[in-house]
Order: sequence, then C-alpha cells, then structure tokens
Amino acid sequence: MEPPSPWPCCYSFFFFFFFISISIISLSTSTSTSAPALFVFGDSFFDPGNNNYINTTTLDQSNFPPYGQTYFHFPTGRFSDGRILPDFILEYANLPLIPPYMDQSASRRYYKIGANFASAGAGALIGTFQGSLTQALCQLLSQNLTALVISLQTQIRYHKRVENRLRKMYGNAVADNTLSKAVYLFSIGTNDYLSPYLITNSTRFNSSYSDSQLIELVIGNLTTAIKELHKRGGRKFGFLNLGPLGCLPGIRIILNPSTDSGGCIEAASLVAKLHNKALTNSLKRLAKQLHGFKYMLYDFNSNLEHRIKHPSKYGYKEGKTACCGTGRFRGTFSCGGKRPVKEYQVLVPMAVASIPLLLVSCLLSVTGCLTSQEHFNKHVALFVFGDSLFDPGNNNYINTSTEFQANFWPYGISYFDPPTGRFSDGRLIPDFIAEYAKLPLIPAYLDPRHNEFVYGANFASGGAGALVESHAGFVVDLKTQLEYFRDLEKHFRENLGDAKAEKLVSDAVYLFSCGGNDYLSPVGNNESILYPYTHEEYVGMVIGNLTNVIKGIHGKGGRKFGIVTIPPLGCWPSIRAGRADNSCSQEIEMIASLHNEEVSKEFKELEKQLEGFVYSRFDLSTAISNRMNNPSIYGFKVGDSACCGSGPFGGIYSCGGKRGLPEFDLCENASDHFFFDSNRPNEVASRQFAELWWKGDLEVTSPYNLKHFFQA
Ligand SMILES: *[C@@H]1O[C@H](CO)[C@@H](O)[C@H](O)[C@H]1NC(C)=O
Ligand SMILES: *[C@@H]1O[C@H](CO)[C@@H](O)[C@H](O)[C@H]1NC(C)=O
Ligand SMILES: *[C@@H]1O[C@H](CO)[C@@H](O)[C@H](O)[C@H]1NC(C)=O
Ligand SMILES: *[C@@H]1O[C@H](CO)[C@@H](O)[C@H](O)[C@H]1NC(C)=O
Ligand SMILES: *[C@@H]1O[C@H](CO)[C@@H](O)[C@H](O)[C@H]1NC(C)=O
Ligand SMILES: *[C@@H]1O[C@H](CO)[C@@H](O)[C@H](O)[C@H]1NC(C)=O
Ligand SMILES: *[C@@H]1O[C@H](CO)[C@@H](O)[C@H](O)[C@H]1NC(C)=O
Ligand SMILES: *[C@@H]1O[C@H](CO)[C@@H](O)[C@H](O)[C@H]1NC(C)=O
Ligand SMILES: *[C@@H]1O[C@H](CO)[C@@H](O)[C@H](O)[C@H]1NC(C)=O
Repeated sequence: MEPPSPWPCCYSFFFFFFFISISIISLSTSTSTSAPALFVFGDSFFDPGNNNYINTTTLDQSNFPPYGQTYFHFPTGRFSDGRILPDFILEYANLPLIPPYMDQSASRRYYKIGANFASAGAGALIGTFQGSLTQALCQLLSQNLTALVISLQTQIRYHKRVENRLRKMYGNAVADNTLSKAVYLFSIGTNDYLSPYLITNSTRFNSSYSDSQLIELVIGNLTTAIKELHKRGGRKFGFLNLGPLGCLPGIRIILNPSTDSGGCIEAASLVAKLHNKALTNSLKRLAKQLHGFKYMLYDFNSNLEHRIKHPSKYGYKEGKTACCGTGRFRGTFSCGGKRPVKEYQVLVPMAVASIPLLLVSCLLSVTGCLTSQEHFNKHVALFVFGDSLFDPGNNNYINTSTEFQANFWPYGISYFDPPTGRFSDGRLIPDFIAEYAKLPLIPAYLDPRHNEFVYGANFASGGAGALVESHAGFVVDLKTQLEYFRDLEKHFRENLGDAKAEKLVSDAVYLFSCGGNDYLSPVGNNESILYPYTHEEYVGMVIGNLTNVIKGIHGKGGRKFGIVTIPPLGCWPSIRAGRADNSCSQEIEMIASLHNEEVSKEFKELEKQLEGFVYSRFDLSTAISNRMNNPSIYGFKVGDSACCGSGPFGGIYSCGGKRGLPEFDLCENASDHFFFDSNRPNEVASRQFAELWWKGDLEVTSPYNLKHFFQA
C-alpha cells in the first residue's frame, strides 16, 4: 500500500511528462523525417470519439451535450467536459490534436504523428462489454441494447493497418523511424474488472474467474499487445495504472446503496490494487526481456485517490460526487439523458466503463473551466470565402458537375487520402493559415459531419465568383456564402449566447479569394470577352458585389479581412491550351490587373468608411508570376505546365478523368510542378503563399500581415 503522501504521485506525474518531452526534443533535432508520434490505446479515459463511428449504443458513447461543454463547446465523443489526458500530452509535445482512428474522413497523413484507437468500455479481454452486458440489462430494462466496443486486440490490429499505411505513404525507412520513436500510451483494465461484475450483479467482484485468474488474463493480454507493438518497432511505452474503483461514484452507488456518505468501498478497490501490482511486475519483466523496451508507469491510482479524498487541496470543491448524472453521488450513468437509465429511473449499473471519467471531469472542472475559458477567449476563428483556391470540398455537397468538383483521385495525392474535394494535390492556403494560427483544419461549411464551427468555417466554392451569374447553378456564389455566414452567426448567438458570439465574430479573420471566375466564365463576342460591358463597368460590378459581401460581414461585427489579388489568369495553362497559338491572353491579363488595382482602391476606401475595418492584402498575383517565370528559384522544376491534365501545358482540364475525357497525364512528383491541374497551384506553392501572407513584409502583404491579425 502506498503512503498517502502526494509526493510519489507528483513525482511520477512529472516524470511521465519528462519522459515524453525528452523523446520529442531528441526527435526534433534529428532529421525532419523523424517526426514524433503518439499512439494511444485503451478505454474511455483516452477515447477521443472512436465509439461515434461503431455500431454501438449511447451506453458506450458520449457524443451529446453536456459532454464537451467546457472546452470543445460541442460533444466530440470524449467522456469528459473537455479534453482528456492524451490531448494534453499532445499539447505539451507540440503536436496537434489527433482525430479518432475510426473517423475515416480524417486525413491518414495524421498517422505520421500517431493515431488514437481507444474505445470507451474496452478492455484487454475480448469479451469485455461485448454485448454480454446487454443480456443483464435487457432483463432489467426489457430492451435489447447492443453495447459493442473495440477491444484492445482489435485496437492493436488497427495499429497494424496504420503501420502498413505509413510504409506505403512514406517508405520503410520513415515508417520504421516513426514507429520506433513513437510513444505508446495505454489506459486499460478498468472495464475488464467492472464488466463481469455488472453481469453477475453480485455484491463483490465476481465472475466465472477468481480475481487472480482474471488479473492473470488481463495482464496476459496486455503483455501480448505490448510484445506485438514491440515487434513492430515500438520502444517507448506509457501506462496508467487502475484508479481506486471503490471510490468511483458509479461503483459506490451500486455496492453500497444504503449509505449516503462514508469512505470508499475498499473491497472494490482491492482488485485494482492487485492488478496494479501485477502490472508493475509484468513491466519490470518486459524491460528485461524486450530489447530497448522503455516504459513509464503513471500512478493514476494514488493521484485519483488523493483528489477524491482531499479535493480542496487540489482546487476542487467536490471529490465524491460526479458533476453530471443522477442519484446518490450522481453515480447513475445518465449524463446527457440519452441513456436508458434516465427513462426507467432504475438504479442499475450501466456501462460503468465511463463513470470514472465523469468523476474526473467534475474534479477537473474547477481548473479546467479557467483554462478553457481562457483558451476560448484567446482563439481567433477563421472564416473563408471564395473560389477553388480556397474551397476545402463544399462542392462535394451540392448538385453540380465534376467540372466543379475534385473529390476523386489524384486530387489530394500529396496529403489527403481519400481526396477531400480540394482542387490541389494537398492543402490550400487557408489550411496553412489555420496551422500557423494554431487552429484545427477549418471544415467545409456544407460538410454534414460538422455543425459547430467555433474555430471557423469555410464557405468557398470552386467556380464561384462575386457575380451570381458566374457558373450559376453549379456553385455557391459569394452572396449565398454570405447568407450561410449569417445563418452561422445566428447559430453562434443561440448556442454560445450573445456576448460570446459577438466576441467570436469580431475577433475572427475573414479571408477572400474571389473574382477570377467572374472573368473566366463569360464569353462575349469578338470585341471583348466581357461584351456588352466595358472592362471598367464589369470590374466595377464584380468589386461592387464583393464589397457588398464584406459590408454584410462587417454589419455582423466582422472587422479583420484578408484578400488575395486574382492570379495572372491570362497565362493559365487552361487559357493557353484553348488558344490557337497557345499564347497568353492579353485581354484577361489586362482585366485581372485592372481588377487588382481597383480592389486595392476599394479596400482603402472601406478602411475610411467602415468602423474598425482592417485588412491584409496579399499580392498573390505577383507571387504566382514570379514562380511561373522563375520556377527553380522557388524549388519547382516546371512553372508553366500542369502536373495533372492533358494537351499543351497540361491545360486541358481532364485531371482525374471524370470530366468527359477519361485520359489524362499525371506527373511523377506533384511537388515539381507549380501547377497541379490546369487551373490551380500545387500544395508546395500554397504553403509558400500562406507563409508570405502570414508573415510577409509590406511588399507582398499590406497594410498588415495575417500574423498580426491572429496575434494582436
Ligand atoms: C447495427 O446494429 C443494428 C442492431 O443490431 C443492426 O440492425 C444494424 O444493421 C447495424 N448496423 C451496421 C452498420 O452494422
Ligand atoms: C486474452 O483474453 C481472452 C479472453 O478474452 C483469452 O481467451 C485469451 O487467451 C487471452 N489471450 C492472451 C494472450 O492472454
Ligand atoms: C432481444 O434480441 C434477441 C435476439 O436478437 C431476441 O430473441 C429477444 O426477443 C429480444 N428481446 C427483446 C426484449 O426485444
Ligand atoms: C441482481 O440482483 C437482484 C437483487 O439484488 C436480483 O433480483 C436480480 O435477479 C439479479 N440479477 C441478475 C442478472 O443476477
Ligand atoms: C461469486 O460470488 C458468489 C456469491 O457471493 C460466491 O459464492 C462465489 O464463490 C463467487 N465466485 C468466485 C469465483 O469468486
Ligand atoms: C441535380 O441536377 C440535375 C441536373 O440539373 C437534376 O436532374 C437533379 O434533379 C438535381 N438533383 C437535386 C437533388 O437537386
Ligand atoms: C465583330 O463581329 C462582327 C460580326 O460577327 C463584325 O461585324 C464586327 O466588325 C466585329 N468587331 C470587331 C471589333 O472585330
Ligand atoms: C452585382 O452584380 C450584379 C450582376 O450580377 C449587378 O447587376 C449589380 O449591379 C452588382 N452590384 C453592385 C453593387 O455592383
Ligand atoms: C518530390 O519532390 C520533392 C521536391 O523536389 C522532394 O522533396 C520529394 O521527396 C519528392 N517526392 C517523391 C515521392 O519523390
């Protein structure tokens, strides 16, 4: 038994993080291919929402309010009011949040920084909470409930898939390096001891196995998992031991239904202590057996026990009672009101799997609230409007033709798998801006998988212009994009309250790439492509409509705007390929530069007219011309021809073979060609542009750069 001093726990706590940060530091000083990675296995303590994607019930899910209310402001599937332990480890290691492995819409490029396989309710034993709980519950609730979870073994199998992916995407050397430098975290066992108890419904931890037999099986399966990962190259492992099960609200309410107060139920904590002892011994043995095996064991047990018993020492008001639930200690697993117990008002044990987390979230809420509030106040959201240069896949969700879509191979080949709908081999300018601003990837507004958008939303639509007529019927024009933004602003007010919504909107940055399609879509007569308008008239209309949208956002409280000049479209591969002599179109060049001059004037005007209006104008046009004319200076082999397409300059818009022409050429390495398809730059170029816009000087981005907007 550990002495009840806070020292051993704090010691191991810090040591644990120390271990992680050492590995990260040593990695970042080596080559860029050896990015650090974090692979996470286990149960609800570590599950970032994998159970959202499996066929299970709300017993093993928490993707509904009030879960997530303190930090994410929407339920992610984490069994907590906010972030969970692996999220903080990632933050300390300077890594972005890792999406749930089961979210197959997430980029598999993330595998290079790791993957999270944890599944609430999971145990080291295959049978744990695999429907067996259901039978007992069905009897009590006269209801058929499938409670399925992803067992540790399956999680290990999924890790194998990630390994295979890494090898395919990056080659064996990089994959080996990633796997061996990675940290492997585990939180497993709690459910193995709770699950048989729930089934037998007896007054002690009891199943067809004795405690010691059960522990042997659990540790045995965990050891098998560790050895498998070690075989795949894993060397650095971190473990939580089991918490004091008898102190959890969900267990107290079952095991001692009569008393309202009193201490923890020692008998229930005993099995955890025995498990923890066995785990310690097993890890010591593995350290001797396995080559290069290093591990860190975090004493979760005494850390949790101290906090439950002496909450005020740690800044909590309450240690015994959960924040969300019903009954004594709010120990009944009803948080959110979406699980059967609410309806039936039966104090039966539910998927106690997750109850510890409820308690932890309550414990954490005192400090957690402060930090997340701070974070919320600090983060600057990003809203994006415009055309294909910025569209992350909105056109996947509208009734259009493949001409205005890019959600098929080989789009995305350099970064996204599967393709997202971005008109590029990889990320776009706003994706990099989001990265520099420490925001997650800003999702497409029309993507039905998203509906909260507190970090921002992207409304851009490939083919869209400022004029409603440009590609009408096939795209989301700028005016409609503004309407969507207004809907979202309303949603913010309803969900966050007026004060927070207003702050979010006024702190946010609004980026625009718009106009190019207005000049490419009309086909006039022999006098001018814009016939019957003069260039000046037409440009006036385009800018007039753009200005209206900016004023609309300003009217809702938006203040910080960013705009890119339109590219030198006259020499675009698609334009040149369409001309008899493959020359550049002087007329389009002229209109484009007229547009860019007029936009500059207009923004200077707006600065005078609109209260608080500030802007950042990035001279994308010059940046593109530089790269087309002198590709090698910027690291490109080819400046004027598309990587993917056909005909002269790859200018025929056939990339992917889904736009009528099944045949197309694809270059060997998309990074070599400034143009990915006949109309858009590649990912490397987008990154360069984003960097210039983010921190460029007055020559390229004026009067402010974007960094100023996000950090001011
Ligand atoms: C999920 O389970 C339910 C009930 O067992 C079943 O009807 C349904 O077909 C399953 N769905 C999937 C996608 O497996
Ligand atoms: C893992 O647990 C299962 C019970 O779920 C057991 O049948 C199996 O033998 C265990 N495997 C190992 C390697 O211990
Ligand atoms: C539950 O499902 C089983 C088989 O899937 C069926 O035999 C049983 O009648 C169902 N019970 C209820 C209460 O629906
Ligand atoms: C659980 O215990 C209660 C009484 O303590 C008993 O009525 C019930 O039949 C038991 N359920 C099972 C599945 O053993
Ligand atoms: C399970 O509990 C029952 C009743 O308390 C007891 O008779 C039985 O021996 C226990 N079985 C095991 C394996 O501990
Ligand atoms: C999509 O557009 C096609 C062709 O314009 C039309 O036939 C179809 O009904 C539309 N579908 C929807 C869902 O609007
Ligand atoms: C445009 O075409 C019409 C007939 O198609 C012709 O009469 C006219 O002279 C042309 N204008 C110019 C400027 O070439
Ligand atoms: C906006 O564009 C339309 C054509 O789509 C035009 O009639 C209108 O005058 C433009 N508005 C402004 C303010 O320029
Ligand atoms: C593609 O080219 C870039 C830059 O020229 C290089 O860094 C990268 O390794 C190449 N990729 C492949 C798969 O050859």
